[in-house]
Amino acid sequence: MILLLLFFSFFNLATTSELCFDSHCTGDYQTIRFPFRIVNGQPKSCGYPGFDLSCHPTGETLLHLPPSGDFIVQNIDYMHQEIRINDPDNCLPKKILSLNLSGSPFVKKNSQSFAFYNCSSSYMPYWYIDPIYCLSSLSYTVYASSSPLLINMFESNCVMIKTVSVPSLSSYSSKLWDDLLLKWKNPDCGRCESIGQRCELKSNSSNGIQCTNSQGRSRVGANVVSIAMGVVAAVICFLGLLCCLCFKINFRRTRSNSSNIAHWIVSSQGLNGLTIDSYPKFVLDESLSLPKPNNNVCPICLAQYRPKEIVKSIPNCQHCFHECCIDEWLRLKASCPVCRKSPLEAPPSNPPA
Ligand SMILES: *[C@@H]1O[C@H](CO)[C@@H](O)[C@H](O)[C@H]1NC(C)=O
Ligand SMILES: *[C@@H]1O[C@H](CO)[C@@H](O)[C@H](O)[C@H]1NC(C)=O
Ligand SMILES: *[C@@H]1O[C@H](CO)[C@@H](O)[C@H](O)[C@H]1NC(C)=O
Repeated sequence: MILLLLFFSFFNLATTSELCFDSHCTGDYQTIRFPFRIVNGQPKSCGYPGFDLSCHPTGETLLHLPPSGDFIVQNIDYMHQEIRINDPDNCLPKKILSLNLSGSPFVKKNSQSFAFYNCSSSYMPYWYIDPIYCLSSLSYTVYASSSPLLINMFESNCVMIKTVSVPSLSSYSSKLWDDLLLKWKNPDCGRCESIGQRCELKSNSSNGIQCTNSQGRSRVGANVVSIAMGVVAAVICFLGLLCCLCFKINFRRTRSNSSNIAHWIVSSQGLNGLTIDSYPKFVLDESLSLPKPNNNVCPICLAQYRPKEIVKSIPNCQHCFHECCIDEWLRLKASCPVCRKSPLEAPPSNPPA
């Protein structure tokens, strides 16, 4: 109980102090420090312009990015100067449609172009793709894809809403629901963080920054804070230990079933993006040579292969397809479209001669 009281008094201290203490919102463990600051919790000089955060009434940390609105902060990587955000209303594609970072200090990391289409609700796409339900209504259905194959299909049946570049690594439309990864260049505090220091505004009120050892809490109350920090760390370690123990016990109990369950999920839903990305692919040359004899037609879209197209083969059976065609297929079905073998089965072993 005393520990808990100390725990909470530390949070109060951190959010109400006039000094630049590390802070966070009540429902979130993400540390907020320079260049970010919590608008109603930390003085202006504790943050850098454009890096203001606020706390949601339910305790999450919010980043306001007009014109899209508020995003929930999932993680801040101070050293690499990256921030992961998501939509508090669970409709990230809607936020993505209106995302415009030009007035913010952030830029997209690894962007990928997605086309959004507005289709009549009676339209059934030939390739199954999840509609974006939160953008759709009874009379129309919204889809988004980055696959040229699907875009081609929507282009002839639906009305394009917009093409947007989405900060995401992979081309799967499910990635529209993943956190957005943004980064910032200025202020460049990563170098201070990487040598274990913090970053602060230079005192003459230009926007210059400098590295500091003080971590902003050396002036007053440092002892209180460090004791409280110690207690907090101890509590967290203790809870962590408990969790580990619980997890271990649970893990032992469920281990016997888990591999079967995992296999079932994979084979009924298709392969995950990492597995699909790991399959060998190559660019076709003028001779259109493929690892297996083939009539030079992609078995999925039935279009002739052309030089410079990207072809992917399934490691087990070496059947080849356009990359965009087989990626969509494997995302839905964990089997080769030609021989129906599961790419998850071990390849036939070659006994030593
Ligand atoms: C983003 O907003 C700026 C003005 O703040 C505007 O000039 C620009 O055209 C917008 N970009 C897009 C893609 O809408
Ligand atoms: C989709 O099209 C319908 C009309 O066909 C329109 O009423 C609706 O607002 C459109 N939705 C979006 C998200 O563009
Ligand atoms: C603040 O100090 C830096 C060097 O420490 C200097 O380059 C900059 O011009 C100063 N800015 C103001 C507004 O005095």
